[in-house]
Amino acid sequence: MELGLSEEQRAVQKTARDYAERRLAPAARARDESKAFPVAELRELAELGLLAVAVPEELGGAGAGAVAYSLAMQELARGDASVAVAVSVTNMVAELVARIGDDAQRRRHVPRLASGEAVCGAFALSEPQAGSDPAALATRAERTAGGWRLSGTKQWITSGDHAGVVVVWAMTEPGAGHKGITAFLVEGGTPGLTVARLEDKMGLRASSTAQLVLDDVAVGDDAVLGGVGGGFRLAMMALDGGRVGIASQAVGIARGALEAAIRYAGERVQFGVPIIKHQAVGNMLADAATWLDAATLLTLRAADLKERELPFGEAAAMAKLFATERAGLVCDLALQVHGGNGYTTDYPVERACRDVRVTRIYEGTSEIQRIVIARSLLARAAREGR
Ligand code: CAA
Repeated sequence: MELGLSEEQRAVQKTARDYAERRLAPAARARDESKAFPVAELRELAELGLLAVAVPEELGGAGAGAVAYSLAMQELARGDASVAVAVSVTNMVAELVARIGDDAQRRRHVPRLASGEAVCGAFALSEPQAGSDPAALATRAERTAGGWRLSGTKQWITSGDHAGVVVVWAMTEPGAGHKGITAFLVEGGTPGLTVARLEDKMGLRASSTAQLVLDDVAVGDDAVLGGVGGGFRLAMMALDGGRVGIASQAVGIARGALEAAIRYAGERVQFGVPIIKHQAVGNMLADAATWLDAATLLTLRAADLKERELPFGEAAAMAKLFATERAGLVCDLALQVHGGNGYTTDYPVERACRDVRVTRIYEGTSEIQRIVIARSLLARAAREGR
């Protein structure tokens, strides 16, 4: 069993760490306060090859694979989790088009995503009444002479107001359930596609979360991604990979919070000694570090399976479930170690506590991950006759 990283993986990790420490972390608090979407930062990340780490090189990505992508996400989230989520959705959309799109779609959209020309990508699956149950979506796509007309409302769309490429899921055969759903590639700025609302969120405040309205958006047949009626499967496939990204994001946020807590506990003196020497504080840090290493290993295992093109959906769900839940606890303990200081905006742990919370919700709640894991266990038991 090989637990070491390759030279290329280390290089991607270092590039992401250096950039995050130099450019992201110092301004993260200001971005959180101003809610400024990181357009310039995304373009810089594209120049460094970090906007599409797992996307093939021939389409403009770094072609460095899923493990390198996870490592990069961890580092970026450690610097600024708001920037990291925009990267993660962009990489997810670019990977989906690279894998499923026809030649023309791949050539048209993937290099624009990887280079930052499209700024970022968005994944428009959820709707006001279709969150955990995306098969219940109500957005319709109706056939026209030369293509399709899309109408409906999409909710919780990360970067939806900035994305140059939006994958929109719509019902092409009402009443057919999962099999009636199709994915469409829609370019930002297409007439009829508007931003109806931007959410005012607890955390990830420099990442935008949009409600998108599609009002008779006309697209050609060449916008259909992966075949009519094949959209639900595509969404599930993309989310399997996306969940490795969110697990990585959670690990990165928690790693930053834990490092801050260790630093603080070494400097803060109470009862005549640095508080890390008090067993109650040392125990908190020991638990947090152990959980975080376990979360990191689960996340890298899922990434490694994906990279080797082995089934990884169950491993991704386990990684997301464990990493996001434990990351929440780690951030909470990190704040506790900081005492009253941790509750102020003078220290970054309060932002980590706010930013990490959504990782248990988006790209499938913890409850959905448990459904995915339990179904997979049942299927395996049936297959193996146990
Ligand atoms: N890969 C490929 N195909 C899959 C699959 C997967 N991982 N999971 C399911 N499918 C296929 C099934 O094989 C089945 O195909 P057939 O009809 O051919 O047999 C079909 O999809 C339907 O599967 P299920 O019956 O299992 O579907 P379900 O309705 O019971 O749902 C679920 C399963 C796992 C609960 C799913 O609904 C789910 O993942 N829900 C959560 C949705 C989610 O994560 N939303 C996040 C929104 S996006 C977001 O947050 C992005 C952002 O901006 C940050």
